Amino acid sequence: MNNNTPEVLISEEAIQTRVLELAEQISADYDSADDLVMVGVLKGSFIFLADLARRLSIPRTIEFIAVSSYENGSVSSGAVRLLMDVRGNIEGKHVLIVEDIVDTGHTLKYLIGMMKSHRPASVRTAALVRKAESAEVDVDVDYLGFDIGDEWVVGYGLDYAEQNRTLPYIGVIKPTDT
Ligand code: IMP
Ligand code: MG
Repeated sequence: MNNNTPEVLISEEAIQTRVLELAEQISADYDSADDLVMVGVLKGSFIFLADLARRLSIPRTIEFIAVSSYENGSVSSGAVRLLMDVRGNIEGKHVLIVEDIVDTGHTLKYLIGMMKSHRPASVRTAALVRKAESAEVDVDVDYLGFDIGDEWVVGYGLDYAEQNRTLPYIGVIKPTDT
């Protein structure tokens, strides 16, 4: 484990401002009669989802799914594994997938396919951060917080080897396995 304090890339204040903007946009885009289900992708999205969900002004329910692709390091295997599916029935509902970060795009692409197999009324995506230059597959992010460069970030839910998830800001660290 490294004890270096991550360097601030996106401040707590900037995150809070952007999350509120996204919440307002989502609240405006959906009708309050829409059955909106926010599907958080564990573990990384838990803080973003909590803040985003509480700032919406429309009715919503919460589900979680868990996937794994990195096996505790920072090198993408490209292979996505479903560890836990949604519990509730999402057929006919409006699904908003809430992700922490889009890197190669493989995870989000896989998740969109997974959600569609449940026959929802619609599927959209929200991500706090995207590494724009790292995309390997084309995948739409309907509600994006921030574009960043190709660097490993932690905080606000994001980890490196399970560390630093609860930092209030997004910071940069240097992975030791690349
Ligand atoms: P993708 O399939 O390459 O787009 O990878 C997406 C997943 O990799 C995210 O949901 C994260 O869990 C993880 N990930 C990718 N980059 C980072 C990072 O910089 N910090 C923390 N997790 C990351
Ligand atoms: Mg994730």
